[in-house]
Amino acid sequence: MFGRPMLGLIDSERAHGLGLSSLAKLERSSIGRNFLRTLYQAPELPINVFGLSFNHPLGIAAGFDKKAQALSAWPSLGFSWMEYGGITRFPQEGNPKPRMFRANKENALINRMGFNNPGALAVRDNLIDRKSVGLWPDNPVAANIGRSKKVSNEDAPGDYSSTLDILWDYSDLFVLNVSSPNTPGLRELQEADHLRSVLNSCNGIRDKKGNHKPILLKFSPDMSDDDLISSAEVAINSKVDGFVATNTTISRYVPKNSQSRSAFAQSGGLSGRPLRKRSLEVVNLLYDYTDSKVPIIGVGGIDSVESAWDMIISGASLIQLYSALVFNGPSVVSKIIKGLKIKVRENNFSNISEAVGSKHT
Ligand SMILES: Cc1cc2nc3c(=O)[nH]c(=O)nc-3n(C[C@H](O)[C@H](O)[C@H](O)COP(=O)(O)O)c2cc1C
Repeated sequence: MFGRPMLGLIDSERAHGLGLSSLAKLERSSIGRNFLRTLYQAPELPINVFGLSFNHPLGIAAGFDKKAQALSAWPSLGFSWMEYGGITRFPQEGNPKPRMFRANKENALINRMGFNNPGALAVRDNLIDRKSVGLWPDNPVAANIGRSKKVSNEDAPGDYSSTLDILWDYSDLFVLNVSSPNTPGLRELQEADHLRSVLNSCNGIRDKKGNHKPILLKFSPDMSDDDLISSAEVAINSKVDGFVATNTTISRYVPKNSQSRSAFAQSGGLSGRPLRKRSLEVVNLLYDYTDSKVPIIGVGGIDSVESAWDMIISGASLIQLYSALVFNGPSVVSKIIKGLKIKVRENNFSNISEAVGSKHT
């Protein structure tokens, strides 16, 4: 599958594509899913967030299953929920390849994919087919929505809300991605006026639908603390249901190892272990600012029991990972959940919800 040996030999995006198509094949049959489950099943550590039940807090982060082509495979790999996308209203190729790089010694990835995806309508068609053949997972599903590259920030509200409208029946929660560094100008949507317009437009669609589904906002780790707080305030006033912290970073240090140095020299967003510290800071900041009233999803550099626990006690009700799946393989999921169960017990909590934000008390 997409284990480490393969990664060392071939181009990152090709390795990723091969891993994903094997998963997409395996998820088609119950034998395939059971096979994965035997290898990777995680224990239960239930938590209820946004009115949805999660078997445990850990999901697959956005960007891995961009087209939702392996939705039913993720629970078999141990994840309790999955976020597909980023999806844009219009189909797009993304940036020229190569656009995904590994810094092995740093356990980090650099990507400048640029929302390569078949567009909201094509994704919805695939999701309709998937539902019709019973390949819809029992677990919560989130959709990650980005702005189409050809659409200006002024027209972004309509672009996001059209995608939301199109995907409404095919996701339990929605993440508005205003923080990818790989679409020029996108991060400016985190500023007050734009943010208000995007959220209002999406709320308008939600009001029309009549059934409340959570709409979340995904933040960049590169905003100053003050800007983060301002954006959070605007978002809360515009009825946001939660935050995802964080997306990838454009900030860099200089690694000692030369392979990592050349990967770090690539433009794009950095993810994995070096992102952990700032993502954790942002989760702490948002938890404090919101007085624990708005659920936070923590993502960035989670690759171990300790890093997952830190996110949870800092204020994350749910957590996600991407890079650790590349560097550690799928067994990292059950390893983390087994460890979190032990942490809950050792700290005399009766469930994982009690641990959320417990560092702040
Ligand atoms: C190749 C790649 C593509 C990504 N695509 C998206 C995306 O489309 N939308 C999004 O919100 N985040 C995207 N992300 C960011 C991840 O969802 C996550 O926020 C980030 O990688 C930090 O988590 P990690 O350190 O566990 O990898 C992408 C990350 C990578 C590595």
